[in-house]
Amino acid sequence: MTTPGDAWWSPWREADGSLILHVDLRPDEGREQRARSLLDDEERRRADRFVVSGARRRFSLCRAALRINLCERLGCANDDLSFGYLEHGKPFAKVNGTPSPVSFNLSHSGANGLIGFAEHDGLGVDLEERAPDRNFDGIGSSVYGPAERRALTAATGTQKADVFYRLWSLKEALIKALGTGFSLNPSRFEVPAAMLGGARSSVFRFPHAPSDRWWLMDLGEPRFAAAMAYRLPPRAPEGGTGPRPGG
Ligand SMILES: CC(C)(COP(=O)(O)OP(=O)(O)OC[C@H]1O[C@@H](n2cnc3c(N)ncnc32)[C@H](O)[C@@H]1OP(=O)(O)O)[C@@H](O)C(=O)NCCC(=O)NCCS
Repeated sequence: MTTPGDAWWSPWREADGSLILHVDLRPDEGREQRARSLLDDEERRRADRFVVSGARRRFSLCRAALRINLCERLGCANDDLSFGYLEHGKPFAKVNGTPSPVSFNLSHSGANGLIGFAEHDGLGVDLEERAPDRNFDGIGSSVYGPAERRALTAATGTQKADVFYRLWSLKEALIKALGTGFSLNPSRFEVPAAMLGGARSSVFRFPHAPSDRWWLMDLGEPRFAAAMAYRLPPRAPEGGTGPRPGG
């Protein structure tokens, strides 16, 4: 995949056949105009409905970067690409109206976005910029499970925000991989015990569907918390022999 010199996205991580792009979402009038020119009528109307300019910028820059990279992968023209949406809003690509099998997901927060592409079905990506001053224990009590709440309560000082956003991004990557988003109450499942203990990746099962296995990866770095999850094929090995993050 090539990245033009004036691109606002760049390769960020590669792992297990997945590629994750980082998207620079800082204000830039020239980029925003170029991005807008790539959107279709429906997307432009959606962009115009955002009251807050930051939200409009994040949507437009991420959607245009997604379009350019999908067109390159699918070998199609921008005008031939459109998006359909599953029940809870998860987008999928269509070329000339026909659904494409390419698996992707994206997330944006503040000045940073991530776009993931995978060979695997059911991909979820999440990025959270860490805001230092929030009622972490209060919010955590409604969205986290018992072991997660204990980990959050035990954290002190700046660790508190780190634990809160790490858990949030791990859980949101999972519900985005599943496609439900927050229509599934996130307190109904907990991240794997190994990851509560600090592991960067693990197999995960939702309690309501234990036969499906997911691979969950913590991709957090100093700028933001981030995570990726994807559905494992039914017969893939588990535990110590599972896939490994690439870096
Ligand atoms: C999916 C969801 C968690 C994303 O929240 P967010 O704060 O916008 O977070 P992110 O920036 O990480 O992700 C946004 C991107 O995820 C993708 N997305 C949207 N819905 C999605 C879903 N259900 N599953 C996976 N990905 C989804 C889109 O590409 C979206 O980007 P876009 O708006 O620029 O197109 C949230 O929108 C949600 O929970 N949606 C479902 C809501 C629902 O069904 N509610 C029912 C009543 S509770």
